[in-house]
Amino acid sequence: MPNTTWTRHHILSLADFTTVEYDTVLQTAASFQEVLSRRTKKVPTLQGQVVANLFFEPSTRTRSSFELAAKRLSADTLNFASGTSSMTKGETILDTAKTYLAMGTDIMVIRHREAGVPNAIAQEMDRLGVHVSVLNAGDGQHEHPSQALLDLFTICTLLDPDNPRVELLKDKKIAIVGDILHSRVARSNIWSFTACGADVHLAAPPTLLPKLFADYGEDRPGKVFLHWELEPALQDADFVMTLRLQKERMTAHLLPSLREYHQMFGITRSKLQLCKPNVKVLHPGPVNRGVEISSELMDDPEFSLIQAQVTSGVAVRMALLYLIGSGKS
Ligand code: CP
Repeated sequence: MPNTTWTRHHILSLADFTTVEYDTVLQTAASFQEVLSRRTKKVPTLQGQVVANLFFEPSTRTRSSFELAAKRLSADTLNFASGTSSMTKGETILDTAKTYLAMGTDIMVIRHREAGVPNAIAQEMDRLGVHVSVLNAGDGQHEHPSQALLDLFTICTLLDPDNPRVELLKDKKIAIVGDILHSRVARSNIWSFTACGADVHLAAPPTLLPKLFADYGEDRPGKVFLHWELEPALQDADFVMTLRLQKERMTAHLLPSLREYHQMFGITRSKLQLCKPNVKVLHPGPVNRGVEISSELMDDPEFSLIQAQVTSGVAVRMALLYLIGSGKS
């Protein structure tokens, strides 16, 4: 593992992450990627610790990869899903968290459809004076730090498999296309990419891309540009991240039709001709095939990093659990 001093107790947001912290996560994840390539993919690092996955909102990738990451580190895991829990009988979120605390949980991984729930639980743990760390696994439209870190790792590993590091992103152009308004992934990725020196070009219809997103690039090495048309965002882009249209979060009629949206903002192989020749496409998942990305492009290994993102998720989440958990033993 990299010889480093990690002081962050909770991982709730990337807004104030430093480049040293990004590099530490990248180097630690690279070490675990090597562990995961061995025949025996398990290390005893978090033996005796308890990691509770408290998912108050559905998830496939994040929940499974946090669980696998904890098991690869030899931690004991507890899995919670609100639909089959005592919340159906009226138990509150904080009482649920305290119940897991009483069972000896060391790290709580929290997903909730409301922004701020992981922060509220972290504050309560700090108020109680217990050494429990909270990892935000996606809260409402706020942030999804572990997703953005695995996206960063996927890109940096592609650029230099032996030494993924922040400086590789300097002056890269990254287009993020789609439902920016509702996307916690976009918010976390804007923080990480601009901190690492990449310029982020956001593209969406005006109803899904409010002007306030321009503020995200203030006083950061990389800048943020807003486009209400796709072409200027794709022009000479090194990477294109397309986002799911979050129909469950759309309370107003924000789009004329899905077919028109696909024509204007859906990513296809032919539209990628505007980008750099070696452009790669990312999507955090889950995907609406044929809406934000063509089915053909999604499955095209020449361009698509979507499966690589999922694979990276385990090593990156091992790194995060290790970094906040290894001081507890
Ligand atoms: N990317 C992501 O958060 O996917 P899940 O909702 O499946 O966890």
